[in-house]
Amino acid sequence: MGGTNPYINYPHLEKPTQTFKVRFLPMDKVVEVNPEKLPYAETGLPGSLLDIALAHDIAIDHACGGVSACSTCHVFVKKGVKSCNEAEDFELDMLESAPGNTVESRLSCQCVPNGREDLVVEVPGWNRNLARETEP
Ligand code: FES
Repeated sequence: MGGTNPYINYPHLEKPTQTFKVRFLPMDKVVEVNPEKLPYAETGLPGSLLDIALAHDIAIDHACGGVSACSTCHVFVKKGVKSCNEAEDFELDMLESAPGNTVESRLSCQCVPNGREDLVVEVPGWNRNLARETEP
């Protein structure tokens, strides 16, 4: 499964026009995002934090396939959230049921940076896919 939820009207998303970096914590992995390569795949909104993470072997759970129907892709955007699309009501509703919800919480499949800032994103322990992290 992947792509977008047909029952949700997606807001206009501003695509990045310049290269930017995302530092994923706690693994402290910095990835450089070239806008010409986006989207990397079809999981989550095009160019979403989930799309970026999965393309760089950062395993974030995404039980619904990135269509905003679960909260397993929950992350904390510690820096650079102003360069991302605003969370829509359906995302906020989903986050309300997510463990550890804070003002920094976003669904990584719905959070799309515009590239004007570098970001720092923390993946909570309960959403890290440990099975994939142990692969060689
Ligand atoms: S993967 Fe299900 S809401 Fe993001």
